[in-house]
Amino acid sequence: MITNEIGMTAAISITSEVEMTNEILRGKSAVVFGGATGIGAGCAQLLAERGAAVVVADLAVEAAELTVERISAAGGQAAAVRCDVSVEEDVENAILLAERTYGRVDIVHNNAGAMHLVPKDRPVGDLPVDIWDQTMAVNLRGPMLGCKYGVRAMLRSGGGSIINTSSAAALAGELTETAYGVSKAAVLQLTRSVATQYGRYGIRCNAILPGMVAVERQASADTASSDLREALAANHLTPYIAVPADIAFAVAFLASSEARFVTGHSFSVDGGMTAHQPMYLDLLRHVEKQESSTSPASVG
Ligand SMILES: NC(=O)c1ccc[n+]([C@@H]2O[C@H](COP(=O)([O-])OP(=O)(O)OC[C@H]3O[C@@H](n4cnc5c(N)ncnc54)[C@H](O)[C@@H]3O)[C@@H](O)[C@H]2O)c1
Repeated sequence: MITNEIGMTAAISITSEVEMTNEILRGKSAVVFGGATGIGAGCAQLLAERGAAVVVADLAVEAAELTVERISAAGGQAAAVRCDVSVEEDVENAILLAERTYGRVDIVHNNAGAMHLVPKDRPVGDLPVDIWDQTMAVNLRGPMLGCKYGVRAMLRSGGGSIINTSSAAALAGELTETAYGVSKAAVLQLTRSVATQYGRYGIRCNAILPGMVAVERQASADTASSDLREALAANHLTPYIAVPADIAFAVAFLASSEARFVTGHSFSVDGGMTAHQPMYLDLLRHVEKQESSTSPASVG
């Protein structure tokens, strides 16, 4: 029991066996939509490592099966299912599979993203409407459906935690990626709506906003040039960009009872990318120039 300064006690133990073994999700069941590759695969693996049984639901079912194999090889429990998150029946099936297989659904991670559409996602004046529609179907209808069926399952089992993957791109305008940014901003409002509507039933809903995360996809010709990636990386305050595990640690925390008082939150996990002034890089170059002209090596 924890007692605070005004004498109120909270019925939580901080030295339970579960926490000691770091299996803070033991006994829980999770569905990770878009868990086959990249961030989602990292999250599925960490949730399993922390003790959760995981359904990996993805359009790329063969890749989802590989993620499940990796989880099983590490001693975790997981199952793969083919799921197009824009199709209501598929999403419902994935949730029902988790309920049937593991008895309940405690954690839903809505992470699928139509990343292959990003290169065709143009400024508004040149934006093909079908790219807008397809982006919204995966990036926004998908999380809404994951919340809809996740909430229904959690109401049956007495509560749970939903984590929606948004993006740093939700917070500011970009020169391109119109549909992507709008879909990720809308996910933040979806998150607040679900948190507000179902908090009293023990269901929490939070969003994570990753910065730049190194994933396998970036090796394909379909993605941003290395120049562009370097410019993006230079706008992070950390001297490195993320790997999927950096996002997974935040997701595992939000999924756990350690985050029992956190809901409706937009959680930036972005290496400080959205924390600084817009002119950060210009200022940094100016400061570095001044430092180099006054450094001992350059004096005299
Ligand atoms: N990588 C980054 O830098 C970054 C930054 C911010 C946010 N994000 C977000 O993180 C999430 C994962 O992205 P990622 O970078 O790991 O890319 P990724 O392409 O590796 O992962 C996306 C996953 O979603 C799946 N998917 C795509 N369409 C689907 C559909 N209709 N139904 C079911 N699954 C579908 C893909 O098969 C894939 O497994 C996305 O929502 C993305 O917007 C990524």
